[in-house]
Amino acid sequence: MESGGTSGMAKRMKVSVCLLLFCSSRQYYGETDTKGEENEPSASNSEQVEIEIAHVLEKINNFTQMVSELLESGKSMLKELSNDFEERMILLHKEQMEKWQEEIKELRTLDAANEDIDALLQNAKYLLQNIHGGS
Ligand SMILES: *[C@@H]1O[C@H](CO)[C@@H](O)[C@H](O)[C@H]1NC(C)=O
Repeated sequence: MESGGTSGMAKRMKVSVCLLLFCSSRQYYGETDTKGEENEPSASNSEQVEIEIAHVLEKINNFTQMVSELLESGKSMLKELSNDFEERMILLHKEQMEKWQEEIKELRTLDAANEDIDALLQNAKYLLQNIHGGS
């Protein structure tokens, strides 16, 4: 069964699983050949083998489905995590920038206050000189 949302990854996994099936079914035949001569006729034996293979195929499909679902949920979880991380980093950067902007603003204010005091002192000095010069 193929749903519209099947991704390329799921298809690639199905190919891998088919290769796995090929190997394991060969192994399976090897095991039944050595024990198959006890009392069952060979036709019944191969029927049994077909049933068991169908069962394994069903397990493979179920497993592939499960892995595919885990992969999808894992991917969306990581994406969410990465978005969250990005947001936090941007916020951290913004806060640090604001801190330094504030520092610059304070330095400018301090500088302006110093200039005011400087001008005031100059003015006072000038006045004092005039008073002394006038007497
Ligand atoms: C496969 O999954 C179906 C339903 O999802 C379940 O009924 C069936 O027993 C499973 N088959 C195996 C072999 O696990």
